Amino acid sequence: MRNVLVTGGAGFIGSNFVRYLLKAEPDARVFNLDALTYAGSLENLKDLPDASRHTFIQGDICDAGLIGKLFQEHQIDSVVHFAAESHVDRSILGPAPFIQTNIVGTFTLLEAARQAWGADGSTRGMRFHHVSTDEVFGSLDASDSAFTESTPYEPRSPYSASKASSDHLVRAYFHTYGLPVTITNCSNNYGPYQYPEKLIPLMILNALRGKPLPVYGDGKQIRDWLFVEDHCEAIYLVLKNGRLGETYNIGGGNQPYNIDLVNETCSILDELKPSTTSYSELIAHVTDRPGHDRRYAMDITKIRNELGWTPRHDIESGLRATVQWYLAHMDWVEVIMKQEGFSDWLDKNYARRGT
Ligand code: NAD
Ligand code: TYD
Repeated sequence: MRNVLVTGGAGFIGSNFVRYLLKAEPDARVFNLDALTYAGSLENLKDLPDASRHTFIQGDICDAGLIGKLFQEHQIDSVVHFAAESHVDRSILGPAPFIQTNIVGTFTLLEAARQAWGADGSTRGMRFHHVSTDEVFGSLDASDSAFTESTPYEPRSPYSASKASSDHLVRAYFHTYGLPVTITNCSNNYGPYQYPEKLIPLMILNALRGKPLPVYGDGKQIRDWLFVEDHCEAIYLVLKNGRLGETYNIGGGNQPYNIDLVNETCSILDELKPSTTSYSELIAHVTDRPGHDRRYAMDITKIRNELGWTPRHDIESGLRATVQWYLAHMDWVEVIMKQEGFSDWLDKNYARRGT
């Protein structure tokens, strides 16, 4: 791993991973390609450790000319592919960019890697790592077993369908062309630098502004919450030691109901930033998301047995660290909330949503 192309490295998980990689690999150079959509920001890349080994390139993963040039000029030997449209609610209101970035963009990167590395990339230590989601597996009922790597795909939103499609393309490039790929499917991340359209940061920031905390439907949906730094460590281990062509499931092992998670977030805020009444009084049940997946849960036996990875954070420690991070970074919050696309989004998704 000498010249690593990270796509989407100005987003939430990508920027955390860039930090992680610069520390973990003292000889690697990181080329960070990001289009800076509403979800990406250079604010996420301030104070990088050893920033001289990091080069930011603003550009689109669908731009074949640009990607081909990057592979050639920088002798890229590893790709860690995060760039995506990532928000389910946005995919419901406007699916087109999801098809373009998540499917066409992934295809464009795969083609560029195939052209640059030729047929013997695997013997020369090249690696294309694709970051995907548990949502490709669909929705579990209360009594179903957790998703394993062999659970059939059954995506149910335009977002998860586009990610499923990209996973299939990545596997096809392994089987057809021998491209040295690995894939990880992970559960819901949370932690520093998460864009405040997602559940946990939205709840923290709405609470601090005294705004309603919009819980979709009955709030009894379940996600498998994973602290972002644990995710970064897992991806790094797969990059170093994962077997080519293999998929690894990554999950946090924390599976509360949404409503309990929101209440827990409010309790931490009550303790760290007390107000006259509990923040939980701001909770408002609103009209459910169409096709809302009920439950996700990840079986992480494979990555634990093969690579020795387990998450370091439980939900209590991870949520507390997250709330503390947001409270200590209100300057970051101010800038992000003023950027184009945030207040428009709140208006579009929530203003006319019924209760
Ligand atoms: P994010 O929305 O915070 O960041 C995505 C980044 O990709 C942004 O910086 C954006 O500018 C960039 N981007 C979007 N379109 C682009 C394009 N066409 N060309 C170049 N850059 C582009 O997303 P995230 O939460 O950091 O997710 C990263 C990856 O992890 C995604 O592939 C997502 O599907 C996957 N994932 C996320 C979660 C989660 O809970 N956040 C869970 C499972 C999997
Ligand atoms: P989200 O963070 O959007 O992630 P995903 O849809 O990829 O799982 O949502 C997490 C859960 O929280 C999901 O069940 C939807 C729910 N949710 C709300 O109840 N209210 C909200 O305002 C948001 C954004 C999400």
